[in-house]
Amino acid sequence: MPVAIITGASRGLGLELARSLAADGWNLVIDARDPAALRVAAERLAPSGFVRAIAGDVADAAHRGDLVAAATELGRSVVLMDGSFQFGDVGVLLNLNPKNKSIADLVPELEQGEPASLDTFVINHSSGVRVLLAPPSPEMAELITPAGVKKVIEALRRKHDLVIIDCTSWFNDTTLAMLDVADVVLTILSLEITSIKNMRLFLEVADQLGYEENKIKLVLNRADSTLGIRVADVENSIGRKVDHTIVSDGRSVVYALNRGVPFFLSNREAQVSQDILRLARSVVGGQSQTDTVDAGKSTQKKSLFAWR
Ligand SMILES: Nc1ncnc2c1ncn2[C@@H]1O[C@H](COP(=O)(O)OP(=O)(O)OP(=O)(O)O)[C@@H](O)[C@H]1O
Ligand SMILES: [Mg+2]
Repeated sequence: MPVAIITGASRGLGLELARSLAADGWNLVIDARDPAALRVAAERLAPSGFVRAIAGDVADAAHRGDLVAAATELGRSVVLMDGSFQFGDVGVLLNLNPKNKSIADLVPELEQGEPASLDTFVINHSSGVRVLLAPPSPEMAELITPAGVKKVIEALRRKHDLVIIDCTSWFNDTTLAMLDVADVVLTILSLEITSIKNMRLFLEVADQLGYEENKIKLVLNRADSTLGIRVADVENSIGRKVDHTIVSDGRSVVYALNRGVPFFLSNREAQVSQDILRLARSVVGGQSQTDTVDAGKSTQKKSLFAWR
C-alpha cells in the first residue's frame, strides 16, 4: 500500500492533493498547524482511505520525525489470516463479506502445488490491511490440511512484511502447523483461574514441542480487572513474566466490534488502543527472521499429538 506525507493538508492545494491520492488508494499521513482544521480535513478524507492526522509545525524536527514514523508504519504491508477455520470472526469484525474469497477457495490451487493467484483471494480492507478469510461455513474447514496451511503462509510471507494469524484457542493439526511456522506466538490470558490453568498447560506443550521461550509472548488481557488474582500471582503460578498488558474497555471494544470497525481505528486515543499499539510495535520491532521448521524437533512433536 503506497503512503504519502502531505503537509499543510487542512486546506487549499494540500487538501486537494490529499483527496486525489486517497481516491487512488494511497494511505496518508497529513499535517497542519491548526488541530481543529486538521481534524475536519481528516474526517472528510477518511471515507476514501486510511488517514493519520498529526498536528504540528514542520519547522519542528520532532514533529517531522513523528510524520516519518507514522508513514513507515503505514507503509508496511500487513496481511491478516483468519486461522479459525470453523468459526472465524475476522470477516464479521471487519465487515467483509465477499463471495468466494476465503482460504477454502484456495484449496484446489493448493492441490496442484503452489498457490499462484493468492491475490485473487486476499481482500483489501480500508485500513490498508489485507485479509484472507476463513471458509464461510464450518464443514469446509475439513478441506484445509496442515500442509496446505503451511503453503499459504509461505506464499503470504513472500509478499508481505507481516503475516498475522488469528488462531483457535485449542490444539489441532492446522493450529499446530501455524504455531510451528510462526516467529512470534502471542498467547492471551486473563486474571481468572481457568485462564491461568490453560496457560500453564499451553506453556508445557510449547516446551515439549521445542519452541524457544522467547517465541512465546504472554499477553494479559483485561489486566485491570483484578478480582482476587493479581498479576504477580499469575507470574508466580506460571513461572514467567507477563510480556504485555491490555486494559478492559467494553465500551470501546464491544461497540466497535458490533459495528464492524476495529476499535483501534474508531477510538485510537482509548487506553485499550494504545495498549494494542504498544504490543504491535514491540512485535514489529523485535521481529526475528528465524528459520521456522526444525527437522530435529519434529520427531518429538509426533509423539505428543497422535495425528501429527
Ligand atoms: N480488553 C477487552 N476489553 C473489553 N472487552 C473485551 C476485551 N477483550 C475481549 N473482550 C470481549 O470478549 C470477547 C471475546 O474476545 P475475543 O474474540 O478476543 O476472544 P477469543 O479468545 O479470540 O475467542 P474465540 O476463541 O472464540 O476466538 C470480545 O468479543 C469482546 O466482547
Ligand atoms: Mg478469537
